[in-house]
Amino acid sequence: MARVILEQVTKIFEGGVVAARDISFTAEEGEFVVLVGPSGCGKSTVLRMIAGLETVTEGRIFIGERVVNDVAPKDRDIAMVFQNYALYPHLSVYENMAFGLQMRKFPKAEIESRVNAAAEILELSDFLERKPKALSGGQRQRVALGRAIVRHPQVFLFDEPLSNLDAKLRVQMRTELAKLHHRLGATMIYVTHDQVEAMTMGNRIVVLKDGVVQQVDTPMNLYQHPANRFVGGFIGSPAMNFFTCDVRNRILKLAEKDIPLVSELRQRVEESKQIILGIRPEHFIAANEAAASVVRIEPQIEVVEPMGSEIYLHFNLNGLPGVARLPADTIAHQGRSFGLAFDLTRCHFFDAQTERAL
Ligand SMILES: Nc1ncnc2c1ncn2[C@@H]1O[C@H](COP(=O)(O)OP(=O)(O)OP(=O)(O)O)[C@@H](O)[C@H]1O
Ligand SMILES: [Mg+2]
Repeated sequence: MARVILEQVTKIFEGGVVAARDISFTAEEGEFVVLVGPSGCGKSTVLRMIAGLETVTEGRIFIGERVVNDVAPKDRDIAMVFQNYALYPHLSVYENMAFGLQMRKFPKAEIESRVNAAAEILELSDFLERKPKALSGGQRQRVALGRAIVRHPQVFLFDEPLSNLDAKLRVQMRTELAKLHHRLGATMIYVTHDQVEAMTMGNRIVVLKDGVVQQVDTPMNLYQHPANRFVGGFIGSPAMNFFTCDVRNRILKLAEKDIPLVSELRQRVEESKQIILGIRPEHFIAANEAAASVVRIEPQIEVVEPMGSEIYLHFNLNGLPGVARLPADTIAHQGRSFGLAFDLTRCHFFDAQTERAL
């Protein structure tokens, strides 16, 4: 296993497209690092530079102790699994997994032992003679993983490997991959645009936007301490609510409501400034259950979404849209007002200009 380090890595494509700018992060030995961000933010480009499938315009990439900028992909000792994990249709599961090792002229006995070991880990031992078309989507995906595992690489790279699977299978494979990581103890770098995948699988997450790293942190720290508005809105579902407020005379003005700033917040929030108040949907409670110290609002309910285990209330607070996540037995009606409450000390505050967390 090896550590992967990116040191101020920039990628500028021909024509001047900057796909990655000044990217720095480390995937420690045995760590599962997830690169997450919206479509086009540069995730695949970063992964492909680590794999050697794209050149690096500026900066350095280390795998283990070695700078690999000029090392050919086949000599980097990595294995990559893509979204379109084309298996050879005319080869059996065994042959698909063995293929890469045969090309590298591994001895037959070694190939056999590696393929059988991988098949066992992936619970494919009973399918080794089958052709891919006789497998389910999840089984095919496991064969693609098997091809990577038999290589015994220093580092595994995954580019949205689960996005071709249906929702249920994706959740299942997510757990499978987490188990696989635990079992192999390998360094893994995993690309996804799905924040739930990122949160559930990553030891650490690198959040990218427009080719720039926004924050590198553990899932819980990203959720609890987002560095800026983008991260706050990207991590968590339903997304964090944002309300732009003026601060004057130690009063925060939210819609028509005056909220006195509690003392611990006064230092963080400057006077005469516009700030963005961030409130997670799960941090609202019904006002009738709230303690005295909280802030109360009375928005109009626009849509009631029962989720079974809980209920989402989409509301409108004097023109500002928001969503609250409440217990399933909450009684609320579309078109009527509903008393909500929140604790200001659990809120997030962002500078309205820079969007950085205050
Ligand atoms: N070969 C290329 N030449 C020019 N521009 C490119 C090339 N490949 C990617 N880009 C651009 O670089 C940016 C990042 O692309 P990339 O594929 O890394 O995004 P991504 O985060 O993986 O997106 P997705 O989630 O849609 O897969 C995009 O603006 C894309 O159009
Ligand atoms: Mg991509």
